[in-house]
Amino acid sequence: MDIYAHRGSSGTHPENTLSAFYEAAKLPIYGVEFDVHLTKDGELVVIHDETIARTSNGKGFVKDMTLAELRSFDFGSWFADEFRGEPIPTLHEVLVVFSETSLHLNIELKSDIFPYEGMAKKVVAMVQRMKLDSRVVISSFDHEAVRAVKKIAPHIETAALFMEVLVDPLDYLRTIPADALHISLPSAVRPSMRKVIEDGVTVRVFTVNEEKYAKTLREVGVTALFTDYPEKMMIYLDRKS
Ligand code: G3P
Ligand code: MG
Repeated sequence: MDIYAHRGSSGTHPENTLSAFYEAAKLPIYGVEFDVHLTKDGELVVIHDETIARTSNGKGFVKDMTLAELRSFDFGSWFADEFRGEPIPTLHEVLVVFSETSLHLNIELKSDIFPYEGMAKKVVAMVQRMKLDSRVVISSFDHEAVRAVKKIAPHIETAALFMEVLVDPLDYLRTIPADALHISLPSAVRPSMRKVIEDGVTVRVFTVNEEKYAKTLREVGVTALFTDYPEKMMIYLDRKS
């Protein structure tokens, strides 16, 4: 079972910042997950929420600010003083960090609330320009975006994100179409998931920080988990560093 650092090493560093990503990049884990939004001036930035209020000293929607405006805020000190001055990273900056590693990258398109016209196309273009196609899985709760990625670049792995308990998920995956299923922890241990795992579908589970759940998922046979504490998770799962 593979370990992905969720929003970078977000349990110990401010989520979705370069310090969280450099920390994850040092670890012998399988991959890293991060979230992408589009600014007012069409730049791809890495942040979880639609607004900057929770993870910065500013407020307002990402979609209403230019990259230059977003760069004037501090995305570190909400987490701890030692991270004061941490800027919002662009997708390009994050990809540069990992292009020097062999980690796999899960790029989550956060277009499920605001549609961010053209975002999927821009992300695919950047991934291809940086020749990261074979190391990337592009996921979203916005299954229209997942479909769009498959249409633009069929060779790039895609995943549909779900919070719900599903019935016949394989049928729906084929309909989108998407290659893999990224599902929340409570839904992952339901009977319908056991069936798709038996059918050989790639299933990755978020967000798993506790040893007992990680071990249950390993028994169930899921492909990977996303954790805020990748270093601790390596110990729980007896991985060598
Ligand atoms: O991509 C897995 C997980 O990150 C999905 O939920 O809200 O943490 O982006 P969220
Ligand atoms: Mg995410």
